Amino acid sequence: MRPADLWRHSTFRLALGVALFILTVLILASGVGYGLMQRQLAARQDARVTEIFKAIDETSLKGDRIDLVDAVDAPIKASPDRPTVFLLRDASGAVLATNIADVTLPDGWSTVPAARLAVPTDYPYRVFVGRAGAYSLAVGLTNADLDDLQEIVLGAFEWAALFALLAAIAVGVLLAMRMQDRLSRAEAAAERVAQGDLSARLPISDRGDDLDRISCAVNLSLSRLEGSVEAMRQVSADIAHDLRTPLNRLKIRIEAATARLAEGLSADHDLTSAGVESDRIIETFSALLRIAQIESGARRESFKPLDLGTLLRDVVEVYADVAEDAGQRLILEAADVAIVDGDKELLTQGFANLIENAIRHCPAGTRITCGIGTAGARIEARVCDTGPGIPPEEREKVLRRLYRLEKSRTTEGNGLGLALVKAVAELHDADLALSDADPGLRVTMRFPRSKRA
Ligand SMILES: Nc1ncnc2c1ncn2[C@@H]1O[C@H](COP(=O)(O)OP(=O)(O)OP(=O)(O)O)[C@@H](O)[C@H]1O
Ligand SMILES: [Mg+2]
Repeated sequence: MRPADLWRHSTFRLALGVALFILTVLILASGVGYGLMQRQLAARQDARVTEIFKAIDETSLKGDRIDLVDAVDAPIKASPDRPTVFLLRDASGAVLATNIADVTLPDGWSTVPAARLAVPTDYPYRVFVGRAGAYSLAVGLTNADLDDLQEIVLGAFEWAALFALLAAIAVGVLLAMRMQDRLSRAEAAAERVAQGDLSARLPISDRGDDLDRISCAVNLSLSRLEGSVEAMRQVSADIAHDLRTPLNRLKIRIEAATARLAEGLSADHDLTSAGVESDRIIETFSALLRIAQIESGARRESFKPLDLGTLLRDVVEVYADVAEDAGQRLILEAADVAIVDGDKELLTQGFANLIENAIRHCPAGTRITCGIGTAGARIEARVCDTGPGIPPEEREKVLRRLYRLEKSRTTEGNGLGLALVKAVAELHDADLALSDADPGLRVTMRFPRSKRA
């Protein structure tokens, strides 16, 4: 990873941001702490000066002038480095004892530069000037300790800040490098998807962190997308394949008519057949478009609460005579009030397709029973017959567009009835299932109950 790339890593920037924040907090905390400490030390220094002053002042009260001068001279001799300075004057202003220059100092507290006192040091003195009996006494204490401490604290802070910054940069680089690996793999997968390979998936670690959760969600979407694209590809291939036969038939009819006309013969029969064939093709396309329109979900907007029992009863009534003509019995077993949210026209069409199938694909003598019941929290609508049924391995396939069982190839129809039922079921969030009625076929649709009823 190049240093310039580092800056583009959110992890690195986050680590640096946290470091700068900590640094700011450190500066503020150190500033406050340092201020408090300085005040404390200054107060102690003043207390020490006051203590020395008082000790000498007491001598002035108890003893005579010689004792007082001795009390000042003793510490002067004991500390030739002059950490403490003294200046004792008598009432006339004459200097009696001192270890500094003969300077006039203001009464009370003051901070005086060492140069002014003629002491060869860089640190100023904290000085108190007051009266000791009839004398004027100045006592001062060097600021050296305070300054040294200030330097130590500032030095320590500088090191701490530098260390924190370097540690943050190191952690940032480390995290960015660890992330880089995962992101590179995710980027590669995304590139493959962009190039049309929908089987590519984002890598998922066993850490289960937020990146993994996002990757899982993206992978799930990719799986769904892959499924839909594959289904669409399959549908297009099926449609192209299945429409070749009627188009070929149409072509043959037209060629036959052309040949007959060329021979001066009547082509009425072939042209009529060609017309019928074109009607069938147009009908197929209309049905395909209708399924596509249902699948788009637009009809969901017009859903209304409706009673599935009444709806099924009406459909059964319409088909009762047709079944009877085919030598079959169409019975409505139970149709209690069952309210669902749905599209009346589409649901009628769906049930009609199922009943029509039973009539068309089952022999005379078949008993067709319809009913509405409950299945757990859902409402179940069913259409069963005692016909030949559909083998288990074909049950998924008959739901595809244009798919018909081999034995039904000769019967009327184009294999779109169940595809429409499936689309209607999906639109209504209903679970569609084809099972064995032993003998015969059982088709069930389980609807969610109406939320508005
Ligand atoms: N009740 C049934 N019993 C036996 N086979 C059935 C039954 N219903 C459907 N099938 C089989 O499933 C196939 C697909 O049914 P679908 O309703 O999709 O098409 P279709 O009835 O052939 O034509 P269309 O409904 O478009 O007029 C049928 O061709 C038939 O082979
Ligand atoms: Mg059908």
